[in-house]
Amino acid sequence: MKRTLLTLFALLVLLPAAADEGMWLPSLISARIDDMRAKGFRLSAEDIYSINRASMKDAVVLFDGGCTGELVSAEGLLLTNHHCGYDAIQRHSTVEHDYLTHGFWARSRAEELPNKGLNVRFLVRMEEVTDRIAAGENPEEIIARAKAEGTGYRADIEQMYYGNQQFLFVYEQFNDVRLVAAPPSSIGKFGGDTDNWIWPRHTGDFSIFRIYASKDNKPADYSPDNVPYRPKKHFTISTKGFQEGDFTMIYGFPGNTQEYILSDAAAYIAERSDPAKIAIRDGRLEIISRAQESDPALRIHYAAKHASIANAWKKWQGEVLGLNRMKTVAAKQEQEEAFARENPRGAELLREMKAEYKRIIDPYFAREITVETLRVLPTSYTAKERAEAFFPARRETERALFRWLFGEYARRCPAEYRIPAFLDGVAANGSPEAFAERVFEEVWAGGETPLNDSLRSDTKRMLDHITWLLGTTRLRNLTSKRLNELYREYLHELRQTWPERAFYPDANLTLRVAYGAIAGYEYADGEYHKPQTTLDGIIAKDNPEIYDYDIPQSLRDLYASKEYGRWGVEIDGRRTVPVCFLASNHTTGGNSGSPVLNADGELIGINFDRTWRSTMSDIAFDPTICRNIAVDIRYVLFVVDRIGGAGYLLKEMRIK
Ligand code: ARG
Ligand code: GLU
Repeated sequence: MKRTLLTLFALLVLLPAAADEGMWLPSLISARIDDMRAKGFRLSAEDIYSINRASMKDAVVLFDGGCTGELVSAEGLLLTNHHCGYDAIQRHSTVEHDYLTHGFWARSRAEELPNKGLNVRFLVRMEEVTDRIAAGENPEEIIARAKAEGTGYRADIEQMYYGNQQFLFVYEQFNDVRLVAAPPSSIGKFGGDTDNWIWPRHTGDFSIFRIYASKDNKPADYSPDNVPYRPKKHFTISTKGFQEGDFTMIYGFPGNTQEYILSDAAAYIAERSDPAKIAIRDGRLEIISRAQESDPALRIHYAAKHASIANAWKKWQGEVLGLNRMKTVAAKQEQEEAFARENPRGAELLREMKAEYKRIIDPYFAREITVETLRVLPTSYTAKERAEAFFPARRETERALFRWLFGEYARRCPAEYRIPAFLDGVAANGSPEAFAERVFEEVWAGGETPLNDSLRSDTKRMLDHITWLLGTTRLRNLTSKRLNELYREYLHELRQTWPERAFYPDANLTLRVAYGAIAGYEYADGEYHKPQTTLDGIIAKDNPEIYDYDIPQSLRDLYASKEYGRWGVEIDGRRTVPVCFLASNHTTGGNSGSPVLNADGELIGINFDRTWRSTMSDIAFDPTICRNIAVDIRYVLFVVDRIGGAGYLLKEMRIK
């Protein structure tokens, strides 16, 4: 009786797919299709993924190696996030043509801007090759043969379930991707870092690109002779709107999750790694913010740096909060105990895994600390950087960063893994801060920097040593070669022991389907969050005094005149424009730019964020509060049409 109860408990804790958890492999989606249809989906598995005919996968791309994009016209027009197109937009921006600030709208194909180095990848097909490799086929040869199948083809073999299954992914890569449109940052980045990871949200986080191909529609490097790519499939756009509870699906490239890790690894994240990294970044952000507040030139100078430091910093805070709130460590411990009781081999595996964690946790932590401190400091400054007008203030800011990060490294790096040149420097100068001053002065002065050079080479040597200890170069997460082998068997045993549980492979930047519904959430008693925001909320936040909330005058004028045209809708008894919405799809970094689709596979939004209090979904998903955030496609079209005056772009879209 007790045993059954415990097993039940373990199942409840770990039973995904009860709600909206899961990132499913498109080629195996037929196993989920009944559940999807029960939740409202009206299409078939073949509509999602097919190698025999055009399917949704042919309208989704991996954008720039880390985001997702979707095709919305027969002439290669593609939507993604503003923050995904940011680099491209920034690179085309000059003082005279500041597209980042004012937006960019190509008035003709001739005005669309090429982007060196930017590419998109379509998935041609995916195929399980576990048995072929087990039978002795060489993975390199499988990959080479797949690459030879077509122009611009790329191929990779990816591990699923820690290598229990291996899949070949064949991609077609296009290298001529041109910028078509971007809203001003006051729309595309509205709310800035303050609103990042936050709901209610009002960010118009989109940008528009076009894929170009050779005349025979094949991938080709940039050429003025290239023509718009004709995709096999593009999404129809739905402007009909939706209700809370309506089915939604997200098709995209989630980057990294760790849903099956032991309690040891969850505890490491929640109690050791995240808190340390947050504290280190607290100090960096404080120094940078102080500089930014002191001088408008410094505000701009550090804007991108501040944004990228703050993004993960806020995400980790949500992760720690969420893991503690869900009691993930205790839940995982209970599950491990239940599993060990049911499966004797499992009990042995768990013992070995825990021993291996003990062996690797300190060196891995040392590596994380080193990368978060010494490794983020500049190794040189250009003459131009040093000569800028605000140079004294900037110099002091950089000096303060050196002092802070050297101090944090000294305080936090486990003794056994401290870098010899660092210890020598501290001994010679009296304190980490005094040593930091010496190194900083050398780096700032440029030229020969012996202190910095020996520190750098010693740092590299230590990181190489840690890599050697762990036996693997795949170090995004706490792992080792041995641990990965143990996890392979552990997952195999888990699936044998608890076949009722629906297992999905961890995200690894391969194409996945997540499905859920339009959904608000109640975070605490009485704290309900509606799933939709509107233009009225933008106006309420509008503040010309605050950079991140200073909307374009044209948007204020439209609000005043209420001339929303076909984009105006009735929400809660008032005429407005929908802006962002929440849904319960399981997403993570890399899902930025992903299409959010309705029950008929029509585009209703572009995914761009999660709520910060749900970022623990990378480790443990809580269906009651985990929500992704999307920009409503009706707001995108409204901005293109009424702010950009680029209504001609809508003509090539299929809008219902
Ligand atoms: N939080 C989103 C993501 O993880 C958006 C980041 C970009 N926006 C920003 N304000 N920093 O990528
Ligand atoms: N903004 C994230 C991205 O760039 C998505 C947010 C998340 O779910 O982590 O992919």
